[in-house]
Amino acid sequence: MSDNRYADPRKSDQKGIVVNLEKFERYPLTFGPTAIEHLPRMTEALGGKVEIYAKREDCNSGLAMGGNKLRKLEYIVPDAIASNADTLVSIGGVQSNHTRLVAAVAAKIGMKCRLVQESWVPHEDAVYDRVGNILLTRLMGADSRIVDDGFDIGLRQSWEDAMQSVRDEGGIPYGIPAGASVHKFGGLGYVGFAEEVRAQEAELGFAFDYIIVCVVTGSTQGGMIVGFAADDRADRVIGIDASGTPDRTRAQVREIVDNTAELVELGRKIRGDEIIINPDYAYPAYGVPSHETNEAIRFAARTEAMITDPVYEGKSMQGMMDLVKKGFFPDGSRVLYAHLGGAPALNGYSYTYRNG
Ligand SMILES: Cc1ncc(COP(=O)(O)O)c(C=O)c1O
Repeated sequence: MSDNRYADPRKSDQKGIVVNLEKFERYPLTFGPTAIEHLPRMTEALGGKVEIYAKREDCNSGLAMGGNKLRKLEYIVPDAIASNADTLVSIGGVQSNHTRLVAAVAAKIGMKCRLVQESWVPHEDAVYDRVGNILLTRLMGADSRIVDDGFDIGLRQSWEDAMQSVRDEGGIPYGIPAGASVHKFGGLGYVGFAEEVRAQEAELGFAFDYIIVCVVTGSTQGGMIVGFAADDRADRVIGIDASGTPDRTRAQVREIVDNTAELVELGRKIRGDEIIINPDYAYPAYGVPSHETNEAIRFAARTEAMITDPVYEGKSMQGMMDLVKKGFFPDGSRVLYAHLGGAPALNGYSYTYRNG
């Protein structure tokens, strides 16, 4: 499979590998291109026939431990600043990485932050609402309000209510939906990820055959699909669903893909068969790790000291491992695991991992 059949986008004589991202303003929140790391011990432990690499989006910034949301927010912040808002408003679960990073961005750009933290996860741990993401969120000065509503990746009444509460107090809110996904610019950051991977591939001298990515609210994979469609490999982006509501997630990815493709002038519509989402690893529910997810988390930690979490990356790690074992990737494939962050949530699962 590793036949280096993908073209180098930076060579001007190659046509059709162009997305128009440059026209969008970007507010830098990350260190720059994220590292691509070969994982030799993991490769070996999984049979040695498929080479495993990770792109370390989890180490992308000095802002509050970083993660995938920052790439998205880089394209949203200029709009927030231009709107004259004084308060960023967003929503997520109690252990939301996204709301942690909205709080971080608000602190960094000197805005206030109001967050609705919903009860998305049927998980009980004595310190669940005091450690990890929510602890960091509070530390950065965000006004974080826990409500009882359950899991839903769409636009919520509680979010609208939070926006109104800011207005009622004389403030000017700027709303960022869950996961920064259904925001008009939510998909742009991960179009940039694809551009970045192409540039790194040109330096490495080979191209990746598959990209593995966890998907829930959809704009990470959605952006990648558009970005990799530019060199006709959108269907090599394998989304591993962690929402447990894959139809809803798929519909949201579709919507984001269509909007983002139009924004960057991709010049064609993405076909349904270019959107690959595997629903097999999200069980038993969003935010609840299965035995196999926990084993995958231990495996990544013990082979490569790569820390994944029980909500997102542990599930995509489990999916990648299982697909390797099942022979889904032809021998010789190079697989790029997009590590999107999320480790702070581990602290909310202290009882689960009390013995490692
Ligand atoms: C660590 C981590 N991985 C994966 C995801 C899924 O990304 P998306 O919501 O863009 O589908 C998220 C956010 O939801 C996340 O915080």
